Amino acid sequence: MKRFTSTILAIAAIASTIGVIQHRASADDDQNRESIERNRIEEGFRIAPVSLSFDHRDRNMVGLGSYLVNAVGGCNDCHTNPSYLPTGNPFLGMPKQVNAAHYLAGGQHFGPFISRNLTPENGLPAGHTLAEFKIILRTGKDFDNLHPQISPLLQVMPWPTFQSMTDHDIEAIYQYLSAIPPATPGP
Ligand code: HEC
Repeated sequence: MKRFTSTILAIAAIASTIGVIQHRASADDDQNRESIERNRIEEGFRIAPVSLSFDHRDRNMVGLGSYLVNAVGGCNDCHTNPSYLPTGNPFLGMPKQVNAAHYLAGGQHFGPFISRNLTPENGLPAGHTLAEFKIILRTGKDFDNLHPQISPLLQVMPWPTFQSMTDHDIEAIYQYLSAIPPATPGP
């Protein structure tokens, strides 16, 4: 009976040790995830090519949004005209200088399609509420219906890719686009 009890106790001790290890591992995972997000937020602030107005916005969301717009989404390459200064064109091997004066104000032509102005209009990015913005990124709906003869859906714009982003990431992009200065398309 004594041996039986001590075997049970030994098993219980091993099980609880495994539990502790698993718990630590998942705490480590959470910490790693947090530090990955923190790195992205910091990098986002470092690479934002324009000054940001925070007002009452969540700074972390703005920083993450900058990371997603400027390091991942390539929004500047289609939504700024021209995307880079003549003295900072990376496609000609020069150190990159984003065209900050017309940053994300649209105006690039892709055949019959023209990229739209994403900068705040009455405080709303591209003049859209967050709910509309999510619909645009998830479904390509063209609220302005600029080319009904071709399609009611946005063309060229990579919404079929962006639609798979998490709500959190789309909200971060929206927060960032609310924080950039309003601008008009370049010539
Ligand atoms: C490959 C080029 C390209 C990239 C990259 C791109 N866009 Fe677009 N986007 C366009 C074009 C072109 C349109 C207009 C399409 C049309 O008229 O059918 C558009 C339209 C939009 C609209 C609709 C605006 C409105 O007023 O209805 C939003 C919002 C938008 N883009 C956001 C973004 C964001 C945010 C990113 C980066 C995460 C991005 N786009 C990246 C080309 C691009």
